[in-house]
Amino acid sequence: MQGLILSIESSCDDSSIALTQIIDKKLIFHQKISQEKEHSNYGGVVPELASRLHAEALPLILEKTKPFLERVQAVAITTEPGLNITLLEGLMMAKTLAFCLNVPLIAVNHLKGHLYSLFLEKEAIFPLGVLLVSGGHTMLIEAKSFHEIKIVARSIDDSFGESFDKVAKMLDLGYPGGPVVEKYAKNGNADFFKLPLPLNSRAKFAFSFSGLKNAVRLEIEKFKAKGGFEDREKLEIFRANLCASFQKVACTHLLQKCKIFFEENKSQRDSWEHFAIVGGASANLFLREELQKMCESYTKNLLLAPLEFCSDNAAMIGRVGIESYLREEFSSPFSVKTKPKVDDFNANFSEDI
Ligand code: KG4
Ligand code: ZN
Repeated sequence: MQGLILSIESSCDDSSIALTQIIDKKLIFHQKISQEKEHSNYGGVVPELASRLHAEALPLILEKTKPFLERVQAVAITTEPGLNITLLEGLMMAKTLAFCLNVPLIAVNHLKGHLYSLFLEKEAIFPLGVLLVSGGHTMLIEAKSFHEIKIVARSIDDSFGESFDKVAKMLDLGYPGGPVVEKYAKNGNADFFKLPLPLNSRAKFAFSFSGLKNAVRLEIEKFKAKGGFEDREKLEIFRANLCASFQKVACTHLLQKCKIFFEENKSQRDSWEHFAIVGGASANLFLREELQKMCESYTKNLLLAPLEFCSDNAAMIGRVGIESYLREEFSSPFSVKTKPKVDDFNANFSEDI
């Protein structure tokens, strides 16, 4: 009977549970219930609503894991970062399960989970540079081993994914914004609007999206003032051109900072064969293609997670869970806490920016 890790993810608007075989990392079961439709009316995630929906969805998924429960050797749970009340929803279930099954509890950093989405059902590859782009974070990371993960650049305001969500909201395109903005961008002229490239100097090794978002807002206000939103045909063309222009500048900003990452600290990172992009927004095909070209020019091999596992999921939490389990790194159910912000790093990550 092969031992399993049961993992739970509830850090934002996806309720997900997975079962992963410890010995060969094989994913035995994975299900996710997304709340996108419910939050769409509000143009973003409403924490109270998200928490209530997790309370409904998680037990429904858990029920399907019943035939496997006697094989479970540990319960892995996302404890940071995320929305506090949704993290708590998952943690309560994880603690209860760990007690009932009499197995250890493993606290998992959600961002580390995204990193390990690259290594589902396989061995991890280190060292590697990582661009993490999600709804909550935008960062460049140096990953040397399970315990040596260092953030070297991060956003000083909005995240990449969040800026897509906000642009979509301003254009009345619903939530989440990433996929719909990308879809509109395909039919637009990316050079139509001249939007400002954020932090366009080498000096600042960080990301910023709020200025770009405001420039988009100003274009929308101008267009609205001219009655543009009343003409369906004009509105569709406007949306396509604005989405394409915004996406191009947002991705150029990411690429410009990746270039600095490749060129700085060259002696050390030059020997690194791999670079990766992870997080929900790494599903953006325009970004993937541009980054692929850049990696080729720096002779780096670009690692990507399977599209299905770019956004939040419990499989990636289970994959980290296996690493902790093998090192016997467990958390006490009595003292384990949720941490909404990534600033309060735990032992899972270190920070140097
Ligand atoms: O990693 P994730 O599922 O959740 C967080 O941990 O935040 O990322 C969700 C974010 C949302 O902001 C969503 O709009 C964005 O990823 N996203 C995209 C795309 N698909 C999802 N952003 C840009 N282009 C996409 N194709
Ligand atoms: Zn995430």
